[in-house]
Amino acid sequence: MCNEYHIKIQSFKKPPTIVEKCIKMPFINGKTPNFKDTLIGVNDLFKNGFFMGDAKPSNFLKTPEGSVEPIDFGLVFKHDTLESIDHEVKKNIISDYLKGGFRYIPNEIKNEYHSCIVKLDDILGKDSPTRKINLKILSKAGL
Ligand SMILES: Nc1ncnc2c1ncn2[C@@H]1O[C@H](COP(=O)(O)OP(=O)(O)OP(=O)(O)O)[C@@H](O)[C@H]1O
Ligand SMILES: [Mg+2]
Repeated sequence: MCNEYHIKIQSFKKPPTIVEKCIKMPFINGKTPNFKDTLIGVNDLFKNGFFMGDAKPSNFLKTPEGSVEPIDFGLVFKHDTLESIDHEVKKNIISDYLKGGFRYIPNEIKNEYHSCIVKLDDILGKDSPTRKINLKILSKAGL
């Protein structure tokens, strides 16, 4: 997802590499963004066709130039390839979204996020974390 995103935005940063079973990411200089800037980061990702299950400030960095860069692509996905997401990753996307990711989704794109979460939940069926999460949490997240 990281490589796909950087190709999409035509950024020429060094690509991530695999070093001794670990993913080595290119260093991005910046500070953890505030709430408002995190919403901007999530919206920028969306404009380029990407969703983030665990949206939160620590998954972005605000550069000195003012852009908000995504840095953690672990639960980043595209809505047109939902089926092909690894089973465990599907579960993590739903549970992190419900646990708090939903708070960082701008209102204008909440419906699109909501529809992806519902589709993932459908695909997972009885394996979906929604079956184990209490109704209060589900309704807080808008499900
Ligand atoms: N490419 C990068 N360049 C610079 N700093 C980074 C980079 N990747 C991660 N960091 C720093 O490490 C922190 C955590 O990174 P990351 O989100 O990848 O780990 P995590 O284990 O998922 O932690 P968290 O639960 O806080 O999200 C970031 O908030 C950032 O400060
Ligand atoms: Mg993270």
